[in-house]
Amino acid sequence: MAEKEKEKDNDKETRIPNIIPVLPVRDIVVFPYMIIPLFVGREVSIKGIEQALSENRMILLLSQKDMSIENPASTDLYAIGTVGMIMRMLKLPDGRVKILVQGIAKAKVKKLVRATPYMEAEIEKIEETKPLLLSIEEEAQIRTVKEQLDKAVSFGKTILPDIMIVIENLDDPGRLADLVASHLGLKTEQAQEILEITDPIIKLKRVSDILSREIELLIVQQKIQSEARGEIDKTQREYFLREQLKAIQKELGDIDERAEEIREFRKKIEDAKMPEKVLKEAEKQLKRLEKMHPDSAEAATIRTYLDWLVELPWSKSTKDNLDIKAATKVLNDDHYDLEKVKERILEYLSVRKLKEKMKGPILCFIGPPGVGKTSLGRSIARALGREFIRMSLGGVRDEAEIRGHRRTYVGALPGRIILGMKQAGSNNPVFMLDEIDKIGMDYRGDPSSALLEVLDPEQNFAFADHYLSVPFDLTNVMFITTGNLADTIPGPLRDRMEIIYLSGYTTEEKLGIARKYLLPKQLEENGLTTKIMTITDEALTLLISQYTREAGVRNLEREIANLCRKIAKRIAEGTGKKFTVIEKNLQGFLGVPKFLPEEEMAHDEVGVSTGLAWTEAGGDIIYIEATTMKGRGNLTLTGQLGDVMKESAQAALSYVRSKARSLGIKEDIFSKTDIHIHVPAGAIPKDGPSAGITIATAIASAFTGQPVNKNIAMTGEVTLRGRVLPIGGLKEKTLGAKRMGIRKIILPKRNKKDLEDIPKYIKDDMEFIFADTMDQVLKAALKTAKKKSS
Ligand SMILES: Nc1ncnc2c1ncn2[C@@H]1O[C@H](COP(=O)(O)OP(=O)(O)O)[C@@H](O)[C@H]1O
Ligand SMILES: [Mg+2]
Repeated sequence: MAEKEKEKDNDKETRIPNIIPVLPVRDIVVFPYMIIPLFVGREVSIKGIEQALSENRMILLLSQKDMSIENPASTDLYAIGTVGMIMRMLKLPDGRVKILVQGIAKAKVKKLVRATPYMEAEIEKIEETKPLLLSIEEEAQIRTVKEQLDKAVSFGKTILPDIMIVIENLDDPGRLADLVASHLGLKTEQAQEILEITDPIIKLKRVSDILSREIELLIVQQKIQSEARGEIDKTQREYFLREQLKAIQKELGDIDERAEEIREFRKKIEDAKMPEKVLKEAEKQLKRLEKMHPDSAEAATIRTYLDWLVELPWSKSTKDNLDIKAATKVLNDDHYDLEKVKERILEYLSVRKLKEKMKGPILCFIGPPGVGKTSLGRSIARALGREFIRMSLGGVRDEAEIRGHRRTYVGALPGRIILGMKQAGSNNPVFMLDEIDKIGMDYRGDPSSALLEVLDPEQNFAFADHYLSVPFDLTNVMFITTGNLADTIPGPLRDRMEIIYLSGYTTEEKLGIARKYLLPKQLEENGLTTKIMTITDEALTLLISQYTREAGVRNLEREIANLCRKIAKRIAEGTGKKFTVIEKNLQGFLGVPKFLPEEEMAHDEVGVSTGLAWTEAGGDIIYIEATTMKGRGNLTLTGQLGDVMKESAQAALSYVRSKARSLGIKEDIFSKTDIHIHVPAGAIPKDGPSAGITIATAIASAFTGQPVNKNIAMTGEVTLRGRVLPIGGLKEKTLGAKRMGIRKIILPKRNKKDLEDIPKYIKDDMEFIFADTMDQVLKAALKTAKKKSS
């Protein structure tokens, strides 16, 4: 093995986990820095190796005290061993595996945490101190060992010249001791004894003792050999020849194994039908691999690279099913309502049908969680007969996550796009990129620019992944992106996408979805039928309103699954055969409700107003509190508000001050009072100008002492002069108010036209008040004072 590679590998900082799989080894002690092939046949050991490979490739190598024991227990193993990194694994035809490990550090077993299906132990790393400055004696000791080794070699000890060179240049006593000990062919007990010594100088001394005995032995042995040389009889000769033959065959076998590997790669490259340029690269790398030592680290890198090249779907694609009727059926089978969205998707597919290579925009589904964005994507794939791949971009900070790392980088891998393509196994999947609105919020490099290249039909025919270093054609991929809000998507990305909004559902819609889709799905999954379990509409509605509070139906699905499981369990226990869930017994299955109907605020309060917010999770209500206290005109804002919202609060305050007279507030009160505005329920991030009128109302109420009508929620931006400006997210906000049991909403007049786009059934039992100016807002929201001094 080439020593240079060892040196290189040692440089990378490897973190060793506390809990790690154990590999018992027979008749050898592995030292740190040693690279060694091991043959493993025992089931537990193979499981351990698989476990290590699925994590960070590290495994604790513990020597067996008695090599004849087939299934060693913890007491049969030494407690101190070496943590090794598995560099390569090869499955042999007889079921055994061959691994190549490199020792990394010594470790001590604190306790064994499991014995099956593989052994695993909690360990503690043993640090060895390396003396900074060597004393004269220590230096002499180092020199002695090196000289002894030279002498041993001159008397016939076989040690590779490479190793001798490394040893010659070593001046770390601990490492020198380990390296010499590992090449002396010591008995297990002896090697283990050396391994367990932590003081490097004592260890070196011990190695020196062993060496001097070894030299004596060698001298005597040479003497005996020269005496006995002429006497080797025929049988002995045959025996030696046979042993040699065996060794040669083994070598030849290894060569066969390599030739086989190269042959296999060649076949796979052929089967992958790569484009010209890729094929050239693959062949070039294969030639390099052929010339390399098969156990070298570099060969392993090339092998992994070739694996990627041959497994990518360069020319594998699925045949599109462009039957629009069938597609309509699939979409309807999978989703309730969503008419507009489905229509848009069908249009898109129709255009595809007419134009083979469509460079159309990328679809982008925007909406709160659980409204069916992902499942629509899945349906589209099903309708088209394509593979479906989904990848979340949430928290992607680094360009390399999209585009991969260069191969020169240790542990380099392709980026998520190429990873997805490999998973898809065809080059035309429906590829869903989730959480596109969460990308680039906090980034190193710029993932969004890499993403632009992925999504741009003018560029993505030759997508360049750093790891692959050859272009991959993404033009046949149908990308769909999803997100909760559109405004955090980087502009250039947004321009390339056609945004389709999906809004939250009303209770009635949820009921429909539950009946037609969620319930049948969960019944099936839990082995139930409608003969065994039924649920009334009333009970289902109760489940929707008191066990969930969300825009989508994700938790609803979870609760229904929960209910089905509870019933399945009762059936298994034999406590019933047929169940009907009604309002009364729902609690018996699901426990107490998680959300009680919004406790109406006890009475109309002074200084508290109700606003409407549009968040990632859909529409919601927020309360805004304003309190005045003695002071000198300061404004305090709390509740983790964003900058825009803070400014909007300032504007609201200025407006109220400028209107003091007409509101019946004494002018001088402002200079003698501090005002504190707080927005409770800290979890939702609060920003944007749309709470302006809500804040102004709370302030006006606090100063005038007039209570705010508790049944009204409001939304709208306010200017310094008291004009009310339009806001966004009307539909989500209305749904949010409705969900919370509020029926009256104050809206900017200029939003009136948007209200027309909201379906009638949502507006039906709601009252909308339109306001142009703050005066109108206050008139609707404030009740006449029951003057109460604050
Ligand atoms: N309109 C709908 N009709 C039927 N099922 C729906 C509908 N909307 C959502 N679902 C179901 O709700 C669950 C959550 O949807 P999902 O697609 O994961 O939401 P999203 O990706 O928007 O967060 C899925 O099981 C999905 O099938
Ligand atoms: Mg989703």
